Amino acid sequence: MVGLGTQETLNTQSLRRACAVATRHLQSTGAHVVGLALGGQEFHIDGKLAAQAQVEGSLLGLYTFKKYQRQDTNSNGRAVTKLQLVAGDAHVHELDEAVRRGTILAEATNFARDLVNEPPNVLTPTELANRASAMAMHFGLECEILDRPQMQELGMGGLLAVAQGSAEPPKFIILRYRGADSTDKGMALVGKGITFDTGGISIKPAAGMDEMKGDMAGAAAVIGAMQAIAQLKPAINVTALVSTTENMPSGTAYRPGDIIRILNGKSIEIVNTDAEGRLVLADALSYASKEGLSPIIDVATLTGGIVMALGHTMTGMFCNDAQLRDDLLAAGQEAGEKFWPMPLDEEYGEQIKSDIADIKQTGGRAASSVTAAKILENFVGDAAWAHLDIAGTSYTESKKPYQERGATGVVVRTLAELALKKGK
Ligand code: BES
Ligand code: MN
Ligand code: ZN
Repeated sequence: MVGLGTQETLNTQSLRRACAVATRHLQSTGAHVVGLALGGQEFHIDGKLAAQAQVEGSLLGLYTFKKYQRQDTNSNGRAVTKLQLVAGDAHVHELDEAVRRGTILAEATNFARDLVNEPPNVLTPTELANRASAMAMHFGLECEILDRPQMQELGMGGLLAVAQGSAEPPKFIILRYRGADSTDKGMALVGKGITFDTGGISIKPAAGMDEMKGDMAGAAAVIGAMQAIAQLKPAINVTALVSTTENMPSGTAYRPGDIIRILNGKSIEIVNTDAEGRLVLADALSYASKEGLSPIIDVATLTGGIVMALGHTMTGMFCNDAQLRDDLLAAGQEAGEKFWPMPLDEEYGEQIKSDIADIKQTGGRAASSVTAAKILENFVGDAAWAHLDIAGTSYTESKKPYQERGATGVVVRTLAELALKKGK
């Protein structure tokens, strides 16, 4: 028996959490088959939404990342291998689609979690591109990977600058899903894919630096969402764009004082090489804007500032379009993911004025998540745009009853739900 809280506050998210806690606990006790009683009406929740949430929650709760641990070190080599769904008489087949949806969304989230949990010596930019490409092949998405010469040709000065300090070659990953005809340019999903962020020449302190393997969680969210979209087949076009590289200090690394030029022609004065995310995103956003894609949604572990502001509960949302903001909040509600709208008022732009380039890379400590978003705004043209800062929500430092320490897979399901809404 799992407590669901009070009747009045019960919603799909309570069901999702309760199922995650239950299956996770049962798995730790050694259960192999778990029966799940599907319901909803008795809770005043739509039966299909309830079934989807229960399946989603159960599969999310079962997730573990133990591939680098021998079974004898790992006290729990057990696994639930089967979920059995039990529903009242005639209703079972009406729930097929809901069960399929829940399964697809949970598996896509777990795929994103795997990418984030992989150690940075394994998940290099090349490996991230390989995994995205293998996923695309398997689910029928178009995939194109750009290498350094093509980046140079296009003028991707942000991605190239960050990558120049690393021995690992950078990649620019393009995934395309076509669910509508080609007159519809469609939506862009943009991800920050820093496979390890040392800070570069402006190096980070040693404590906690290992967590910076998760600095590609935005990329993982976007790639995971594409896996779900490929299977759910909404009637829209969606393009995913991922800039991926390491951020390393070395004799060839970029430096504070450098001036670089982004794909859209704007120059940036570098002041801190640890503010690398906005640079690699600037090229990807420019690419999306140049293709005429709208809306553009970027996902990034961008700033420590958003962790100070919102902690680990809510993802910061910066949006230049009221409709898109409402759509994302509604999609988040369905996915059980929380977003808090943050400002983009023009006054914040003062902090990123440069004396010698078009833009200064950082705006100091005050409102640092906002000034980071203001930089990104320079590269979206006139597209409707949302920037989701997941620095606080993509990774959990302590284990929870519903999930282990590590990647959360945040935003995968919100993006997929948004695509479903737009492509109804
Ligand atoms: N990847 C970090 C942001 C981050 C911090 C992600 C904590 C996850 C947890 C980003 O590249 C970074 O270093 N940001 C700096 C920018 C600063 C130097 C202007 C920050 O926010 O401190
Ligand atoms: Mn950084
Ligand atoms: Zn970073």
